[in-house]
Amino acid sequence: MNKQKIVVLSGAGVSAESGLSTFRDNGGLWCNIDPMKVASIQGWLQNPRLVLDFYNERRAQLETAQPNKAHKIIAELEKNYDVAVITQNVDNLHERAGSTRVLHLHGELTKVRPENSYTEQDNFSESKIIDIGYKKIHYGDEDKTGVQLRPHIVFFGEAVPNIETAARLVELSDILIIIGTSMQVYPAASLYSFTKPTTPIYVIDPKEVAIKDPRFIHIKQKASDGMETLITVNGF
Ligand code: OAD
Repeated sequence: MNKQKIVVLSGAGVSAESGLSTFRDNGGLWCNIDPMKVASIQGWLQNPRLVLDFYNERRAQLETAQPNKAHKIIAELEKNYDVAVITQNVDNLHERAGSTRVLHLHGELTKVRPENSYTEQDNFSESKIIDIGYKKIHYGDEDKTGVQLRPHIVFFGEAVPNIETAARLVELSDILIIIGTSMQVYPAASLYSFTKPTTPIYVIDPKEVAIKDPRFIHIKQKASDGMETLITVNGF
């Protein structure tokens, strides 16, 4: 028998219990620094050193962070379900917890690419992406062709190349789990609308999220407890 398809759409809250800051909570990253300075294409063009430092610091934090119980429960769902994780997170904690199918919407901290890596179709040129692990990148670091390296991060003001693949996954899902995202950033926030009308949509977040939809089944708990509730109460 074919396994049911679960799609997990995750945001920064799923990694909060691993010690990585969210963006918009009290004390979150965007409370202390203007996202337009470090996470937008304009910011990159104005002050690439500042942007590189911001991501160097986050990469260093990631090196010592560990996947938490929520990441692990999500990975274990693969025993009984056909699972795809669509994450807005640039960390690699889903992969390190054992999830085998992870689609990053906003890029990955452990990768970089040259400044000329967008194609005319607003897509990344996959062959130009370089895995750097947890190393720092400095202004002046270039690829083999002499082009400045930039973080493999989708900046505000840039297209989200993986969004169509993500929409197709959501369309085919039998169960959608939205976890740890304030649902304020588009197009990711609108992905849920691609579900079939019969697909249950679970939202795991200790707070209200920006979108209200009568189909949302809100489990108002932190990521680990919320995933535990989901598998025990719903028998996943
Ligand atoms: P936000 O910071 O906007 O939202 C984090 C969500 O996690 C909030 O709804 C919190 O209530 C929730 N949360 C906090 N602690 C939690 C916990 N322990 N367990 C579960 N949930 C918890 O982060 P995102 O929605 O992921 O993009 O932000 C989306 C995008 O905005 C990011 O990918 C990033 C940012 O700008 C880029 O940088 C391109």
